Amino acid sequence: MTQAALQQSPAPGRLIDEDRVRWLVESAKDNRFLPQPESTNVFVGDGDFRAIGAEFLGHFIRIGGLREDGRVLDIGCGIGRMAVPLTQYLDPQVGRYDGIDPVEGGIDWCQRTITPAYPNFAFQRLDIAHELYNPNGKISGKALALPFPDRHFNFVIMTSVVTHLPPAEILVYLTEVRRILVPGGRLFMTAFVVDRIAAANENGRRDPRLAFRRYGESPCWFVPNQPPLAAIGFEDGFLDKALGRAGLSLALKSLGHWRGTKAGHHQDFIVAKRRGDVR
Ligand SMILES: C[S@@+](CC[C@H](N)C(=O)[O-])C[C@H]1O[C@@H](n2cnc3c(N)ncnc32)[C@H](O)[C@@H]1O
Repeated sequence: MTQAALQQSPAPGRLIDEDRVRWLVESAKDNRFLPQPESTNVFVGDGDFRAIGAEFLGHFIRIGGLREDGRVLDIGCGIGRMAVPLTQYLDPQVGRYDGIDPVEGGIDWCQRTITPAYPNFAFQRLDIAHELYNPNGKISGKALALPFPDRHFNFVIMTSVVTHLPPAEILVYLTEVRRILVPGGRLFMTAFVVDRIAAANENGRRDPRLAFRRYGESPCWFVPNQPPLAAIGFEDGFLDKALGRAGLSLALKSLGHWRGTKAGHHQDFIVAKRRGDVR
């Protein structure tokens, strides 16, 4: 490892071994022995399941500052796209991963395929209602209580989840995230932040699948001719304010290339930290 390969991570006082991260990401992408669901069972979006998971492993470490001894909660874990590459990183003795999701088929696959080989990875189905993913769910997202104690995790993942959540549920989720995080613990969330460039498609290169329109005075932008919860964009500033109200401070906002600008990732990334408690 060269000195130049060491980069400052968002976790204070910690250096990242860039050669190792690059190797980890490449091997998570190319390792055909890692569990992978049948493509017909993948309901979490198109694209290469293994390559996207591997890419995010790199983002969690480089941008989110995730460590090998992390205690991770993956909210809306789907069918293990983020969990599979994390099995190659989290320390089996001290690292721990929990995933929750309303879709039974995804959780069932993860429990049968990932947990037996990696017992520090656990998955739970929560019957949370969602118009598209779980229309008959019994738990309202507006009354969500995550089944974990206070200050239990130091890293929470929400990838492509708030992109499907109604605005009334956002603050509820963020408040729960704050509760289960230790002080200083981080949330890594992806979103579509509709800023001026994205709203007006200023450079004409916005992802054509995300031609968001705003309806009324709501902070939400929807894609015409699609069910509203198929993809939600939020007015710039909405998520920042919700984080503040929930007791989380924004540590990083990195805009993605879906709006047609240059970036190393598609969706927008937000990293937030649980603030210390007021005494
Ligand atoms: C686009 S998928 C992303 C899955 C996973 N995070 C990934 O990146 O592979 C959206 C996920 O959010 C889950 N979901 C939908 N409504 C939810 C809710 N109210 N709370 C938590 N998860 C939810 C869906 O079941 C689905 O697995």
